[in-house]
Amino acid sequence: SDQSAFDTDVWTLTRFVIETGRQAKGATGELTQLINAMLTAIKAISSAVRKAGLAHLQGIAGSVNVTGDDVKKLDVLSNDLVINMLRASYSTCCMVSEENKDLIVTPKDKRGKYVVCFDPLDGSSNIDCLASIGTIFAIYKRVTEGEPTDQDALQQGNNIVCAGYALYGSATLVALSTGAGLNFFMLDPAVGEFILTERNVRIKPKGKIYSLNEGYAKYFHPSINEYLKHKKYPEDGSSPYGARYVGSMVSDVHRTIAYGGIFMYPANEKSPKGKLRLLYECNPIAFLIEQAGGLATTGSQRVLDVQPEALHQRVPFVVGSPDDVNEYLSFVKKFA
Ligand code: AHG
Ligand code: MN
Ligand code: MN
Ligand code: MN
Repeated sequence: SDQSAFDTDVWTLTRFVIETGRQAKGATGELTQLINAMLTAIKAISSAVRKAGLAHLQGIAGSVNVTGDDVKKLDVLSNDLVINMLRASYSTCCMVSEENKDLIVTPKDKRGKYVVCFDPLDGSSNIDCLASIGTIFAIYKRVTEGEPTDQDALQQGNNIVCAGYALYGSATLVALSTGAGLNFFMLDPAVGEFILTERNVRIKPKGKIYSLNEGYAKYFHPSINEYLKHKKYPEDGSSPYGARYVGSMVSDVHRTIAYGGIFMYPANEKSPKGKLRLLYECNPIAFLIEQAGGLATTGSQRVLDVQPEALHQRVPFVVGSPDDVNEYLSFVKKFA
């Protein structure tokens, strides 16, 4: 289309999902409703994030969640927004949130066939210093009849129907996939719509950036420190890598997809399974990274193959450009 300021045939995320949804056999439009509800929550969170300082939404809410994090006021607001919008979409039977210990069962009269696992606000330790934060979600079809149970949420990431993240950065972006490639959408605040900006995004086979919290180096397994040494003092004549770490996974992952490279949240002596939670952080991101041609491993298996046993279980997490993740895995083998 012509590059005039106003595209009269614009691809909004809603239009994209309707188009995709219609191709699904037996499409009832329920997934479209669900994604639209999630987008409404994301727009509201984006607005709250950008006025957090003004609306006294910074600082902690004074409680600790099931995974031991200090809960921030924006965590609570974001959580309530997602739960209420999804519940009102008549498309979910249950949900899992980082901020709720137990399965959130949708009231009977509002139930649909989907399950949503989400992190309403990722990187909340960065709210008060204005670094970018995000929202992450994964959508599954329920696997039980009758009353929803944890089993509906404890599915392998291989079963993901749709996953995405929102990044509240210099602009608000949504990355989304329904299994046919990864697409980027930017929020046009003037219209309140997410506009398709990049279709079928592909990650570079190899990057030049590694990203992890090296403050835990004292507690890392030797395979990690040996890999890092190779990135800093390569002995094969290759150039050392650059280091980037925001401490908000959505930011670190989005940069990794956009520029290439590797993001790691490894196990360490103090957190033997790492910190990132499988259901609402690792699985959705692993799904999206693989849709872009990247890899996502726990170090011992593909993330999407992990059979979940608990709603808030953690797994070690290494994702990014395939050559970089495979090089890391060669160090796991060497220093097993
Ligand atoms: P959340 O804010 O949803 O609890 O997630 C924070 C996570 C993730 O965003 C980030 O990669 C990681 O915490 C940072 O942890 P460290 O501060 O230990 O590096
Ligand atoms: Mn948290
Ligand atoms: Mn998180
Ligand atoms: Mn969170």
